[in-house]
Amino acid sequence: MQNSLQHLKSFYITPETPESYFLSLEGIEGSGKSTQIKFLEKILIKKGYRVLSLREPGGTEFGERLREAILKSSTPLHPLAECHLFLASRAQLLKEKILPFLLQPKSIVILDRYIDSTLAYQGQARKLGFKTVLELHQHNPLNILPHRTFYLDIPLEVSWERQNLRGQEKDYFESEKADFYNELITGYQQMAGLFSDRILTIDARGSVEEVSTYIEQDIERFIK
Ligand code: TYD
Repeated sequence: MQNSLQHLKSFYITPETPESYFLSLEGIEGSGKSTQIKFLEKILIKKGYRVLSLREPGGTEFGERLREAILKSSTPLHPLAECHLFLASRAQLLKEKILPFLLQPKSIVILDRYIDSTLAYQGQARKLGFKTVLELHQHNPLNILPHRTFYLDIPLEVSWERQNLRGQEKDYFESEKADFYNELITGYQQMAGLFSDRILTIDARGSVEEVSTYIEQDIERFIK
């Protein structure tokens, strides 16, 4: 299994414009992605980069309609249907926004969720399997991987606590039970192993400042 996943990785590439970078943030609900994205934007703009922040699913007119269709769905979707909807939103986002932006020098795209969400949510938690997701994802333009992915790792209890503090109404995925969340964490951790050069796992139980410092130190190492 591990061998066939390694083989599938060879179909994937990263964008090649000099001094342009594609970054993504990953994690379960309550991991603090949005806060860290705001922080990242600031430090990268300070370094003289043009920054485009986007979220998934969504980010284009078509993608936002798909977002509504998935997150407001009143019936449980078939995992394969779910997966195809996320990939449709993503392909359009790559075509309309991400790839054109990255063709320009000194440009950085920061994406709130990308391929690792599909691998963790649909591949692991919905049981489609990593192989199926990576096979569906290997075709142009979906065969693009970020240069760096920050995975904000929190245990189930911390996610629960933070979601309860927010007190918002739960959407399609947020109302899932503990088993589902544990599968997500397993999925993410396995992907962090498979893509160990790309994914940096950060213990996100700590304070916002601790997590930001960790991200900043990593950015300093590979973005000048
Ligand atoms: P969102 O409200 O953006 O969640 P968050 O603020 O936690 O990022 O909703 C997106 C939901 O869609 C989230 O629960 C994760 C899920 N998702 C997938 O299941 N597969 C995917 O490929 C993506 C991009 C998201």
